[in-house]
This record gives sequence, C-alpha cells and structure tokens, in this order.
Amino acid sequence: MNEESFKSLIYRLSDGVFHSGESLGHSLGVSRAAIWKRLQSLEKYGILLESVKGRGYRIPGGLSLLDSSKILAGVNIAAQSYLGLLSCFDTIDSTNEFLLRGSSVSGDVCLAERQSSGRGRRGRDWFSPYGKNLYLSLCWHFDQGVSALDGLSLAVGVLLAEALAQQGVVGVQLKWPNDLLINDNKLGGILIEVGGDLTGDCKVVIGIGLNVAMSEVIPVTDREKITQPWTDLRQAGYDGGRNELIGGLLSLLLPALHDYPATGFASYRDRWHALNAHRNQSISLRFPERVELGVMAGVNEKGALILKTPAGKKIFSGGEVSLRSVK
Ligand code: BTN
Repeated sequence: MNEESFKSLIYRLSDGVFHSGESLGHSLGVSRAAIWKRLQSLEKYGILLESVKGRGYRIPGGLSLLDSSKILAGVNIAAQSYLGLLSCFDTIDSTNEFLLRGSSVSGDVCLAERQSSGRGRRGRDWFSPYGKNLYLSLCWHFDQGVSALDGLSLAVGVLLAEALAQQGVVGVQLKWPNDLLINDNKLGGILIEVGGDLTGDCKVVIGIGLNVAMSEVIPVTDREKITQPWTDLRQAGYDGGRNELIGGLLSLLLPALHDYPATGFASYRDRWHALNAHRNQSISLRFPERVELGVMAGVNEKGALILKTPAGKKIFSGGEVSLRSVK
C-alpha cells in the first residue's frame, strides 16, 4: 500500500468510530476487498484495529494525528524565534537519523507518527508504533565542540519533566543518565547523537521518545518487544493530545538550547537532584565487562554520576552503562 492510500485510510479511521468496509471503500474509491487487504496491513504498523460484525472497523480510542499548525500554535513567542524547519512524517526510519543525514540547522525539528528503525541507547531498538507516542528530534549546532555539551542530556531530562509538570503530569523522575520514569516504570528516554566537528562546529541531534498512549495500542504480541517495565502518559492521567504536548516541550527546549553554552549544566544540577529517582539508594552500574556497586550520591557539575563505594567516591560519565536498583 502506498503512503497516500495508507494516509487516507488512517485519516478516516482516526475518529475512533466504526466504519463499514463499504463506506471506507466508497470514500477511498476502491473495492471492499481492497479495503480489507489494506486494513490487514495496519497491524504491521502497530495499529490495533477492532472489527465487529455488522458494524465495521474502528481504531479503539481513535488517533490524534500530528498536526504542524496545532504544534506551532502551542510554541510560545520566546521559543518561536529559535524554531527552524518543522518536518512531520507519517513513517520514517528514525527522526534522529533524518536530522543527522540532512543539512539541518539549529532549531530544525523532526517528528513522525511511526519509526521503522527507531533507536535507543546502547544500540537498542526503540519500539515505535504508529500514532500514539511521541518521537521527536531536535537539531542544534554548538560551535565550541562537544566539551560544551557536558550534562546536556540530563538538562534535557529536567526540561522534559518540567514541561510535563506544566501539562499536569506529576511524579516524573529521572534515572541517570537520561530515562524518564514514573513509579520506576519507563515513560521515555533521550538519545543524543553528535555529528560534524567534535572540537568545533558540532551538530547535536537530541532525540526524545515519550510513551503517550502506548497502552491503548500495543498488541499483546508486541509487549515482549519492550524489555523494561514501562508506562505511558495516559496511565499517568494525561488526557491531552500530542500536538499540545509537543508545543509545550519545544517552548522550553528551544530557548534552553540557545542558552546552554552560557548556562551549562550548572543551572540544572539542583533541579536534576530534585528529580533523581535513585537518590541515596543502593545501585549497581553495569558496564559491558564489569559491575560497580555503591550508593547513588547525585551528579557532579558535568552531569557525571557520583557513586559512594567502600573504596571512596567514584565518578562515572555516561556511555555504555545501565543503572539498576539493588534491593
Ligand atoms: C533510550 O534508549 O532510552 C533513548 C530512546 C530515544 C528514542 C527517540 S524516539 C525519537 C528519536 N529517534 C530515534 O531513533 N531515537 C530517538
């Protein structure tokens, strides 16, 4: 099925009410048999479809599709001056990859309803079903090289938690280096990728994945694709749409990125500590070849983790490491 016919079918079904095969066929100008075939392929996109004899087909809960004009209306005046090109895709390999491979400039944003090769930290896939979550990447150029980026991914975590609080989502905590949690379940993650000259003009792509309404859509068979306990904004009581959420996020992120070379992580450190999910807890840090045990004693001025161990304090900066609670 080509992108155009897929889109027109999805738009018809996005209202969440039942449509008969006949009416879908009529409005799209194809036979009922062709509609049936197209409906079957929706599952490939992670779209849950309900079919009831005599009533037709519907997407339970409907879909609030990405809409650039609604997103732009939600970006505040201060942030609008930093916003570049907003690209909204139906399906893309990865929104991060799109900005990395193109000639994107500071403030360019890429969004997609679905990613076919969404990526997470540590080489993992990021499960990206259609239409219910948020897959957002933002490009920014820093001309001082990567050294100016210390703590940036932690600062982005703070800004996300604060933007969510503004939308009424409470209880978001941060797991070092950059997971968003609610009650120990993963709500979202941040993947920062860097291109260009690492000592001079470097291009930074900040990728944000947030589970919005995944519980409404994820087919039972796909649940094992996610290896960690997860939650989403619906379960946290958020009943707004993705467009307004994105407007709110960009309103905080764009000015903060512009100011980051001046503020650095210093103005985020206390705010990060206030959101630290593992404060003073016994934790393990798992590296590919070793494990470190100790007590989570916060982060330093560069966003590196401070671990209290029997052998004294040890400092760890991000990379191939995962943090776990030790009960
Ligand atoms: C993590 O592993 O916790 C980070 C996940 C980051 C996922 C986002 S979704 C938008 C952007 N595009 C990608 O391919 N990955 C990031």
